Amino acid sequence: MDKIVLQGGRRLQGTVAISGSKNACLPLMAASLLGDSPTQLHNVPNLRDITTMMIMLGELGAKASLKGTTLTIDPRGFSVPKVPYNMVRKMRASIYVLGPLIARLGRAIVSLPGGCAIGARPIDLHLKGLAALGANIKLSHGYILADNPGLKGAEIVLEGAHGSSVGATNNVMMAAVLAKGITTIRGAACEPEVVDLVTMLRQMGARIEGEGTSTITITGVNGLQCADHTVIPDRIEAGTFMTMAGITQGDILIKGCRIDHMEAIINKLLEIGIEVTPQDDGIRVQGTDHLKPVSIRTLPYPGFPTDMQAQFTALLCLAEGQSTVTETIYVDRFIHVAELLRMGADIQLHRGTAIVRGVKKLSAASVMASDLRASAALIVAGLAAEGLTEVLRVYHIDRGYERIEQKMALLGAKIERLDTTKTKDLGSTSSHWGDTPDP
Ligand code: UD1
Repeated sequence: MDKIVLQGGRRLQGTVAISGSKNACLPLMAASLLGDSPTQLHNVPNLRDITTMMIMLGELGAKASLKGTTLTIDPRGFSVPKVPYNMVRKMRASIYVLGPLIARLGRAIVSLPGGCAIGARPIDLHLKGLAALGANIKLSHGYILADNPGLKGAEIVLEGAHGSSVGATNNVMMAAVLAKGITTIRGAACEPEVVDLVTMLRQMGARIEGEGTSTITITGVNGLQCADHTVIPDRIEAGTFMTMAGITQGDILIKGCRIDHMEAIINKLLEIGIEVTPQDDGIRVQGTDHLKPVSIRTLPYPGFPTDMQAQFTALLCLAEGQSTVTETIYVDRFIHVAELLRMGADIQLHRGTAIVRGVKKLSAASVMASDLRASAALIVAGLAAEGLTEVLRVYHIDRGYERIEQKMALLGAKIERLDTTKTKDLGSTSSHWGDTPDP
């Protein structure tokens, strides 16, 4: 098992290239099953979740091969309707094949995902939407059993207690494109990753309108072709590097990201006092030695993303005053707080809100990653902590950040990935690399 070891106190500067979005790519991979011939996806990030999805598509009878950043998916052998628990427990996004299975094979046996580190994650809206299209759905022994006596378009409201659902919107769209007649999804998610899926489905021959708004209308067609599509850049990876610039008083050009996807993140950085300047090929982010406290409330897009909450919480640990961070999407998504406290942060949790009182400095420690974005937050905190931070269980980060330590090293971070079976606990007070000055 690997861990990441990093030396705090170094200013990050230079250029970082942003990879393709994991959260856009996973549904695009599932959607390729709807076509009649091989789809090519470009700008695909090389991540553990992408490999897991490739293996799963293989088990369903499709063929997936990745060369560089181009992924080819041949759906012509797609014939197996079952996704077992050992797949879904590795990656919840496996549920994305439910819509395509029902629409193409007329049958699905898909394991129900359980909870995860960030709390309960129901899929009732996915099932409600698919049932409204006419699928017969039963739950039995931890599995979703679905068959399709003939999908028909319907009016579906897909909003839950925590707002719209990205996953349910995508899954229902992937079934509705092959249903007879017109489907209207109200309370649809507006995330750029949903828009990216619509862009590809439309290229495959689907008839969809209204993406990026809360009402999406789909007119079913008889069949879909293949696509040749470039995945959008990862706004969460870009946002994470922005917080790294902010916490190290650094100066980073975030290359290849889409400024129009990042407004809520950029507005918060500006409010904190971090300089953000659009450039031709990306966004330049310059830190400051006076971070201002702010209030953050996570919301569905275009609101502030829950996937950036942990990294901003880490950043605000060093602001001059009291910030509040309210999580409305996954109210229990605060496991990183306990680890930040071990690094000297002053945070109190109160009913879905973290009250973060800025401290003068953080101190390095051995900390445990609990989920993908929490691991990123611990790395952000480690960059500004005195001494040597080790982040254990970094397999979480490999699910969603491509070569993070290499990208950070190019910006001047002292960071290394070590195999825990071959190294001892380094402790956090001594310098693993000796005393090296800032670049
Ligand atoms: C996606 C992202 C994840 C991000 C989340 C919210 C992927 C692979 N993952 O997850 O990184 O944090 O969007 O932006 O793209 N809900 C229900 N019933 C459902 C489905 C969802 O109540 O059937 C609730 C969820 O518990 C949550 C909220 O709706 O409170 C939003 O969840 P959703 O948008 O569906 O998240 P995912 O698509 O799973």
